[in-house]
Amino acid sequence: MSYSIWRKKPTYLFEQDIQKSELKRVLGKWSLTAIGIGAIIGGGIFVLTGTAAHYHAGPALALSFVVAGIGCIFAALCYAEFAAMLPVEGSAYAYAYGTIGELFAWAIGWGLILEYAMGAMTVAVSWSGYFNKLMHLFGIDIPFWLRNDPVSAAKFAVDNGLDRPSFAVNLPAFIIVWLVTYILVKGIKEAASANNIIVIIKVVAVIFVIIAGAFFIKTQNWIPFIPEARMIPGEMLDANNKPILVEAYGFQGVISGASAIFFAYIGFDAVSTQAGEAINPRKDMPFAIITSLLVCTVLYILVSLVLTGMIDYNAIVGDALKAPVAYAFESVGQNWAVFIVTAAATTGLISVMLVMMLGQTRVFLGMAKDGLLPKFFKEIHPTFKTPWKSTVLVGLAVSMVAAFTPIGILGDMTSFGTLFAFAMVCLAVLLLRIREPERERPFKAPILFVIAPLGIIVNTILIVSLSDLAKYCAVGWLALGMVVYFAYGRPNSNLNKLEK
Ligand code: ALA
Repeated sequence: MSYSIWRKKPTYLFEQDIQKSELKRVLGKWSLTAIGIGAIIGGGIFVLTGTAAHYHAGPALALSFVVAGIGCIFAALCYAEFAAMLPVEGSAYAYAYGTIGELFAWAIGWGLILEYAMGAMTVAVSWSGYFNKLMHLFGIDIPFWLRNDPVSAAKFAVDNGLDRPSFAVNLPAFIIVWLVTYILVKGIKEAASANNIIVIIKVVAVIFVIIAGAFFIKTQNWIPFIPEARMIPGEMLDANNKPILVEAYGFQGVISGASAIFFAYIGFDAVSTQAGEAINPRKDMPFAIITSLLVCTVLYILVSLVLTGMIDYNAIVGDALKAPVAYAFESVGQNWAVFIVTAAATTGLISVMLVMMLGQTRVFLGMAKDGLLPKFFKEIHPTFKTPWKSTVLVGLAVSMVAAFTPIGILGDMTSFGTLFAFAMVCLAVLLLRIREPERERPFKAPILFVIAPLGIIVNTILIVSLSDLAKYCAVGWLALGMVVYFAYGRPNSNLNKLEK
């Protein structure tokens, strides 16, 4: 082994980690599947579908879900093979450490912060939007400066002819993050029970949207299914406050739509961060990863067909973009259904935050155990058996950003971090099959030599189709990660001791 960025964590050290794990093994295969579904169904399907239909794909939104779903299935099969082989905390980070090398592993771990912590921030702000809508349905309107970050509050004031507030905070987002943090510190079992209930509510709500919405489909809204490519007014304004024209629809629209809704699929991989708490990880992790993704893919395709059948994609503008599913029912005069959708989304988004923040702390735990992050991130609470210090730190960061930052590009950056990790996992699992073909694999991804390269290609195409701003910010984030690696991670890595 060399003191090099390519040094790998030896397999026996992974085995030792598995044996030494202090976390409680309480999660069965259905709890793990619920964790996957809990993380997947959220802001993506309830919010981004409108944007993707109006600005990208039109009725072909369902095809965008198929394209993104295919990229995810390839990645999921690769994740499943790895999760069964190396059932340790840390997910894609750990897999890369065992196969490609330390620098790559670090880059993936750093990229996963974009996925999990930034994903939790994005969802906390989406949650606040739905919560405010729910309060509004009950006749309670929270003052705008208490439900918006300072930038959004200033814009709201200007748009509505009000005085700009001297202080503004997204209080609901801040509070919900601390509630989730509290549940996570108390323990995985409590978190899993809360998650199971929320997942049931959420899945029932989505099935409700599909069945109730099907009665209001007008098939002419689906024609033409892939509208001809054309320029339309986009979301950004030019210097004269006129919308900048953007290219939409056609085949390219299906692909850019897939990038836009990719966020909706994020989460199945979070199952792989729970290996340390699974009762029978080698069998149950592959099951949970694949089942949760397949269930959500089918539900998503059906919801997108219903949505674009209920309303004309050209009409999804203004407020309808913020809550398109609720808007679809409003537009057909079913206000009782609006209430159900809003209440279910408000409840359902909590479990996404729960799993995202849980995933973040487990990735930190894996990195800290390897010496790449300080001890702080692996300190386990004596009674609750959770990495409580890191959980509180993640709660603090997520709550502060969610309370004070507008989230425009956060969703895209979350997708960047995830797509990057997916492509890397496909690469890592392929390399390991080539280098160690004899190794025991409790789950083997079928036709890996086809699906892994395809996974890399599809996920890379989706990265390229993300917004430029998000790509620049994400690359800046990865560059910062490199600085931290060479300043802290590399000199403190446990592998240094082994080399001596
Ligand atoms: N897939 C999750 C959501 O859509 C992140 O909220």
